[in-house]
Amino acid sequence: PPRAEILVASNRGPVSHTLRDDGSLAVRRGGGGLVSGLSALGPGAGTWVCAALNEADRQAARRRPGGLLDPADTAGQTVRMLDIPAETFEAAYNGVANSALWFVHHLLYQTPLEPAFDTEFEKQWAHYEEYNAAFARALAEEAAPGARVLVQDYHLALVPGLLRELRPDLRIGHFSHTPWAPPDFFRMLPGHAARAVLRGILGADRAAFLTRRWARSFADCCAEVLGAEVSGDAIVLEGRRVSTGVHGLGADAGFLRERAAREDVDERLAALREQIGTAPDGTPRRTVVRVDRTELSKNIVRGLLAYRRLLADHPEWHRRVVHVAFAYPSRQDLEVYRSYTAEVSRVAGAVNAEFGTAGWTPVVLHVKDDFARSLAAYRLADVALVNPIRDGMNLVAKEVPVVSESGCALVLSREAGACAELGEDALVVNPYDITDTARALHDGLTMPPEERAARSERLAAAATALPPRQWFLDQLTALDSGPS
Ligand code: G6P
Repeated sequence: PPRAEILVASNRGPVSHTLRDDGSLAVRRGGGGLVSGLSALGPGAGTWVCAALNEADRQAARRRPGGLLDPADTAGQTVRMLDIPAETFEAAYNGVANSALWFVHHLLYQTPLEPAFDTEFEKQWAHYEEYNAAFARALAEEAAPGARVLVQDYHLALVPGLLRELRPDLRIGHFSHTPWAPPDFFRMLPGHAARAVLRGILGADRAAFLTRRWARSFADCCAEVLGAEVSGDAIVLEGRRVSTGVHGLGADAGFLRERAAREDVDERLAALREQIGTAPDGTPRRTVVRVDRTELSKNIVRGLLAYRRLLADHPEWHRRVVHVAFAYPSRQDLEVYRSYTAEVSRVAGAVNAEFGTAGWTPVVLHVKDDFARSLAAYRLADVALVNPIRDGMNLVAKEVPVVSESGCALVLSREAGACAELGEDALVVNPYDITDTARALHDGLTMPPEERAARSERLAAAATALPPRQWFLDQLTALDSGPS
């Protein structure tokens, strides 16, 4: 088979499968920066290696030799979906990646009790190694001599090192879509795992991040944990030089504006307006909008409590404002996500019980994922609330200003990567400080319309400075020119 010059590797691929009632497979195509980046190169220009995430994916992968999916299902792209045994996948994905690594990078542990790494972790770690090895083997098979390989995220931290051993001729990049933990937190991981993750990524020619801050944390970890030497943008370990880079993924303005103007979004906008209702003076109620996966790091509960504080401190907003909160279930295999999801509903219900009146529901919470309705909410946002505890970038912060109709004020956590680019025109908050966040919500709601529109315009410009295609192409270019 023809070997690829450009390869992408990520846990979640560009397509996913579900089983229909009659047992046949349905295919769904995903979106995101990598999908539009690779498609910019044209059909067949690259090969994407990803994992089968569920039983339907595994069936699709088994149906075709080597797990190479039918190009008719992938818009002509070459996608190799790895049929990793369910037990190995679950341990690597839910155990090591989404629990240990995600929790460390997002500072989510409640340290008096968690983490407690014991034999269960050691078993999961062995699966994580096996899962990473499966990716490295597949990439080694698919890559043409001297090909460029872009490995994505914390799921695949060991891949660059393993792949370099198999194929020293390749140019390998690793990209982290998450924050990177500072050394004091990173060192919570068992020493062998901490060292393996860092050494794995240092197997690449280039390790890239969404902001300077995460790149610096990574270099600090390499220095403290491995004793690597850091000078400028280079990390030197045992005589090998690895460069670090920063690519701040932006929103896709063209796609968003076109998509948000379609009829299905208009319909949902009308339905939302109906649900939000009008203030006593007959004008439409003002809106505080948030759209997130129900992810622990997104800090949805403190957001609701800040809105509660706003209503408690400012009765003048009663019946004049609605918090439109979209919180879409995520990672429900993990108990702590299930209880967090329940807590979000409980707190939203409590705010409604405390302040709601016959004609006014202060919090409108939707949990069923609906992209068209999310765009409708972006369009009518007066204030967007983006208050994560910690976030690699946060694209919602970048998307709302692009789509909002009358310009929105952005309340933004200082701990989101996006704050590095949007901090000047956003209302920046400490995500742990509910009083501070409530004050920012009030400032956003009372901001003069001209100022709000002017800030929103500047936010949209900054948010779209690096569109997904350019973000992707820049990484390829940088991989060509970096030191070896
Ligand atoms: C977010 C993060 C990515 C991560 C992804 C995993 O988008 O920014 O770093 O790869 O979640 O989500 P999943 O649903 O595939 O576990």
